[in-house]
Amino acid sequence: MAELTDVWFDCDTGFDDLLALLVLSRNPSLRLRGVSTVVGNSSLDNTTANTLATVEAFGIEAPVYRGCPQPIAGRPQTIEGLLGEGGMGTTGRRLPEARHRQAEPEHGVRALSAYLRAASAPALVVATAPLTNVAQAINLDPSLAAKISRLVVMGGSAGSGNHTAAAEFNAFADPEAWDVVLRAGVPVEMFGLNLTRQVLIGPADRDRVDAVGTEVAGAIADYLDAYLRIRERDRPGPMPLHDPCTTVYLAHPEWFTLEPARVEMELAGRITRGQTVCEFRVPRKAEPNALVATRAEGKQVVDYAVDQVVAALRDAP
Ligand code: BDR
Ligand code: CA
Repeated sequence: MAELTDVWFDCDTGFDDLLALLVLSRNPSLRLRGVSTVVGNSSLDNTTANTLATVEAFGIEAPVYRGCPQPIAGRPQTIEGLLGEGGMGTTGRRLPEARHRQAEPEHGVRALSAYLRAASAPALVVATAPLTNVAQAINLDPSLAAKISRLVVMGGSAGSGNHTAAAEFNAFADPEAWDVVLRAGVPVEMFGLNLTRQVLIGPADRDRVDAVGTEVAGAIADYLDAYLRIRERDRPGPMPLHDPCTTVYLAHPEWFTLEPARVEMELAGRITRGQTVCEFRVPRKAEPNALVATRAEGKQVVDYAVDQVVAALRDAP
C-alpha cells in the first residue's frame, strides 16, 4: 500500500472551509494530522466552534487547536455581515453545536510548530484562512519555514479583489502574515480569486446535497443556500467555491494550471493594502517565489467537491 502523506489544515470555518475540510478528510492518500483555527470569517471562538461542529458531525478524528484571535497587526477583520451569524449563514437548518469534541489545550501555533518539527521530511500545510498561524509559527522559530514542503493556500488574487477592489479577504485580513511567509521562502502554491472565480457552485449542487435526506445534509444544504444568496438575498446564484480548490487540487492536480510567479504583498498602499502583486515574467523581471494557480476545470472541480460532500454525508455517523 502506498505511504500516506501527512497534512495540516489551517482554517477559519466558514462554509467553504467546511467543504474544503470534508474533501481533504476523504482523500485516501492523505493523513490529516491536525486542524488549527484562526480569526477570519468570524471570531476565533466562532471559527473554532464551527470547526468542532464539523468534525463531530462528520466523524473527522484529527485534533482541533485554537490558533490566533487577532492578526499580526491591526484589528481583526471579520465578515459575519456578509456570511451570516457566526460566519456560517443558513437559510434554516444548521449543524448542532459539538457536544463531544472540544479544542485541544495546546495553542494552534504551537501544535502546528510541533507537527512541522516532528516531521521526518518537510511537510504539507493547507491554509484556507488568513495566514496568521503559519506566520506566527515562523516568527517564533524561523527554521520552521524550511520544514514546510508546500503551503497550499487559498488567498490573494492575481487580478481584482473581493474585500476591497485590490485585496482578497484572507490576504487583507492579515497582510503582514503573508509577507512573513513569502519572505521566509516558504514554497507557496496560491489559489487566489483569479482561480476560484472559475470554479462556480450553484443551486443544482445545493439540491444534490439536500437530496441525501439526512439532518446533517439538510444543514449543509441550507448553509450552501445562504452562501449562494451572498450577492442577492432573494435569488440564489452561482458563487466561487474558494477554499475547496486547495483540497480538490491535492486529489486532482491535473485539473489545475499553476504558473511560477513572484508574489509580493502590498502592506503600505492607502487603497491597495492586502493586494498580492503577481509578476509572471519570471525570471526575466524577478525571481519566482510561488506557484500561482491560473486555470481550473471548474465544472470537474465542483462536481468532485460535491461528490465528496455527498459521500461524506452518507458516511456521517
Ligand atoms: C476567502 O475568504 C473567506 O470568506 C472564505 O472562507 C475564503 O477563505 C475568500 O476570499
Ligand atoms: Ca476560509
